[in-house]
Amino acid sequence: MGTHSCEIGVIGLGVMGRNLALNCAEHGFPVVVYNRTAEKTSEFIVRDAAGVALRAGYTLQEFTELLRKPRAVIMMVPAGPPVDSMIQELLLFLEAGDVLIDGGNSRPVDTDRRGKSLQEKGILYLGTGISGGEAGARFGPSIMPGGPQKAYERVQPVMEAIAARAEGAPCVSYLGQGSAGHYVKMVHNGIEYGLMQLIAETYDVMKRGLGLQAGELHHIYAQWNEGKTACYLLEITARIFSALDEKTGQPLINLILDAAGQKGSGMWTSQEALNLQIPTPTIDASVAMRNLSGLKKDRTAAAGVLGLAAPAFSGDRRRFIEQLRGAFYAGMLLTYTQGFALLYRASQVNTYRLRLAEVARIWRGGCIIRASLLNGIGTACRINPDLSNLLMDEQIAQALITHCDDLRAVVQSAAAMGIPAPAFMASLSYLDSYRSPWLPANLIQAQRDCFGAHTYERLDMPGTFHSKWQKDRD
Ligand code: 6PG
Repeated sequence: MGTHSCEIGVIGLGVMGRNLALNCAEHGFPVVVYNRTAEKTSEFIVRDAAGVALRAGYTLQEFTELLRKPRAVIMMVPAGPPVDSMIQELLLFLEAGDVLIDGGNSRPVDTDRRGKSLQEKGILYLGTGISGGEAGARFGPSIMPGGPQKAYERVQPVMEAIAARAEGAPCVSYLGQGSAGHYVKMVHNGIEYGLMQLIAETYDVMKRGLGLQAGELHHIYAQWNEGKTACYLLEITARIFSALDEKTGQPLINLILDAAGQKGSGMWTSQEALNLQIPTPTIDASVAMRNLSGLKKDRTAAAGVLGLAAPAFSGDRRRFIEQLRGAFYAGMLLTYTQGFALLYRASQVNTYRLRLAEVARIWRGGCIIRASLLNGIGTACRINPDLSNLLMDEQIAQALITHCDDLRAVVQSAAAMGIPAPAFMASLSYLDSYRSPWLPANLIQAQRDCFGAHTYERLDMPGTFHSKWQKDRD
């Protein structure tokens, strides 16, 4: 392989970058890799790259000289300032027409800023969500590219070859202008937070409420990962409950600290939803619960003062576990509903022109939120490309209604046992609010007018009104 012979360049040899580079090379695309620390590059080439078309660039000059023009470079570096520094360094070597891809979890607003500034230099910037973790990057991720369409065309053959496949089709699709790709990935992660929290709540109810052990939970989650509740997150949950600690032989799950970290993409989803005034309460609750989990010290201290002696579960356990599964299905559907409603609105506001059926399709394989119910969601969005809320689709509404009682029963039981289930509760309240023609917001209007003369609207006549709410004092 000589100068200008590589099809694609990968910058950043963390686990995602390494695996993506190998995935590209094994699909027959000559790859050049670069990492800031040269030892990491040589280590990778020696250890993992034998027998595949992979070359190393030890300087950015060498790296860019090895790429065919117009160049295509994927950055797999941590989101935030490292992306900006890498762009600055690369600018010395890239030329107009080259394609630069950010494959990390960047915040959409950053992607828009970077895209605009690179456009002035003629560089085509593709903000691309890549989901599937280590295994996905290596054997087929779901890929969510956004930015100039011309840039996508340059890398389309590579992306289609390396992406996961669902029903034979690659899980990648050009999503739209600007930050469309990173926006879709951000919402993917928001949904991921919601689904993870819902599963965690079923675990809590079954562990503390029913006293089930890891082995039993393994079987239950494995069963749930069949049929209409099947999803990757249940698959790994079942796996987690069967893992034993090498040191102690105990179920590993019981030895893990109950405080979850986060890098921020779930929180950004909630923040975006608040900005666009689209309700995403299940996702919001899951972000709040990660924050509450982090307050381990406070929680431990508070238990001494506020500790709750909650009643144990007294009903039909078998039936309750079935209801939990039904409630999870409903919660799942409602989480996707909130995510898709946000995407619908963001697409209008940011003129992404998202095709939501395509979003559902490329989430069918490779990504963390892949689930069998995405088939029905995809169909609903295909039948009505202007579907602002999935609950307006008859089939989806029917599927949800079937498990509505389960959702309510689980919320009631969890509350009675003193077990927090805010994602279930938020999902149920979202549904009950969305299908209610009347909400008590008339009182909110009246209060705003009463204390701040903000005026109100009336049911019986058009216009805005203000009332004198307090009788004049004598
Ligand atoms: C994916 C994941 C991936 C990452 C999350 C974790 O789609 O492959 O979403 O991007 O694991 O960003 O996010 P938190 O650290 O915020 O949980």
